[in-house]
Amino acid sequence: MSVHRKIQTKRVTTNTLLAMKEVGEKISMLTAYDYSLAKIVDAAGVDVILVGDSASNVMAGHETTLPITLDQMIYHASSVVKAVKRALVVVDLPFGSYQGDSKKALSSAVQIMKESGGHAIKMEGGKEIKDSIERVLSAGVPVMGHLGLTPQSIYKFGTYAVRAKKRDEAEQLLKDAKMLEKTGCFGIVLEKIPAELGKKVAELVSIPVIGIGGGGHVDGQVLVLHDMLGITVDFSPRFLRRYLNLFEDIKGAVGSYIEDVKSGDFPNEKEQY
Ligand code: KIV
Repeated sequence: MSVHRKIQTKRVTTNTLLAMKEVGEKISMLTAYDYSLAKIVDAAGVDVILVGDSASNVMAGHETTLPITLDQMIYHASSVVKAVKRALVVVDLPFGSYQGDSKKALSSAVQIMKESGGHAIKMEGGKEIKDSIERVLSAGVPVMGHLGLTPQSIYKFGTYAVRAKKRDEAEQLLKDAKMLEKTGCFGIVLEKIPAELGKKVAELVSIPVIGIGGGGHVDGQVLVLHDMLGITVDFSPRFLRRYLNLFEDIKGAVGSYIEDVKSGDFPNEKEQY
């Protein structure tokens, strides 16, 4: 067990995350979209697994997160849930399943919780989705907010550049964070904003703030698993730390296998019946 772990728990809940913020223990969060990798990530002891709609990019090869459907999110989430023993599993509500219609938001959230077994959902946006957040929360479904760069609105932004550098946008983000806390969200993801603003948000609200490009003064960090493992190679934002170079490693291993098959080296005497 890591020396950095202060809160001991068999199963991470939203309350565990609040307690971690209170004692100043940083929260680790990573994405996963399938059974096998979720099993490894959970065994390593990550606190939160996000079944992110980034599955649209890294699993399905879409350019944006917009095309992924509710049924596809449920498929990914139910595979993850089967593997996980300790982490809290948060599932993204996909684009079009909650914006502008709080009844639809509730029915999408309930479908995810019933059919995937996930523990909480995440929604992108601030005041414009307040009604949807409130209705989902009223059904007892834990909600995580997501502010700053919200990829489901990429065609509104027109760019993946750092958000909230200007004063008016930063002020609105602070108001939205306060609203998310007041409404009853259990946490907030802050994506690609100035570190100083990330610090202000983490100080402003009592709920955990998890950054991805939100600086080092927030309550935890999240990365896309395929990015930090170096499976994706064409995406290198400043906030990304790569811990492995799996694209090259896997390519090398597959290359060796091909060579062994072609040369007749595989299978050898011990590898056959
Ligand atoms: O879908 C996702 O992976 C996310 C993270 C970028 C936080 O929302």
